[in-house]
Amino acid sequence: MRRKLAAGNWKMNGTGADLAEVTAMQAGLPKGAEAPEVLICPPATLIQRMAAMAAPIAVGGQDCHSAESGAHTGDLSAAMLLDAGASHVILGHSERRTDHGEQDEDVRAKARAALAQGLTVVICVGETQAQRESANTLGIIGGQLAGSIPDLVTGDRLVVAYEPVWAIGTGLVPTTDQIGEVHGFIRQRLERRFGAGVGRSVRLLYGGSVKPGNAAEIFAVADVDGALVGGASLKAKDFLPIIQALADAGAREQGQ
Ligand code: 13P
Repeated sequence: MRRKLAAGNWKMNGTGADLAEVTAMQAGLPKGAEAPEVLICPPATLIQRMAAMAAPIAVGGQDCHSAESGAHTGDLSAAMLLDAGASHVILGHSERRTDHGEQDEDVRAKARAALAQGLTVVICVGETQAQRESANTLGIIGGQLAGSIPDLVTGDRLVVAYEPVWAIGTGLVPTTDQIGEVHGFIRQRLERRFGAGVGRSVRLLYGGSVKPGNAAEIFAVADVDGALVGGASLKAKDFLPIIQALADAGAREQGQ
């Protein structure tokens, strides 16, 4: 049984004042065996402060450099994230791929560096609107998976997030059939490449306009082990119902 994971990506949002939201989230977390793991990836300026107060919520970075150290102004190494209290790092988010021209091989090199430091990597894949319209979605996702995930991974240190680019921050959400098709495909590719043991233990997150109102429906889809949530992870009043919907989905599965 894979433990569910509710991950928040705060992107370039949040200052010290917003740590109060994390306190409110802590107070409302579901309890019990089916309680999901909760992760927040704030801007780098907040990692250390958040990590000092957020338990049992885990804290992660939103990117890291592939090098251990050196002349890379403005960048952060995986060791620095770890030192600041992060346990996870998001890599290859579509906004990094678009804003910073990151390619699959860059994501793979970053993932190698992060795994070498003991971080858990959340590797993002997803098609654009044009790619979906040209019926190329699975080809794109397959290529991103093959190119972005390094060879040496274990199932507990790898999380894959499927984030259709056209669903991010738009309010548009794929149908549950479309999500199920891509998640099933990702699972199959992981099992084929890494073997059934590793492939079945990797958590697969859906991301893109997840809100309290659509979370339960999305979490009922096979091979959706949680969500990577942007806007709705910033406030406890939005993120907590999503976390609860995931706990409920876990309880239903355990009851089956
Ligand atoms: P939204 O939930 O704001 O659509 O963002 C999704 C996302 O990009 C998470 O990484």
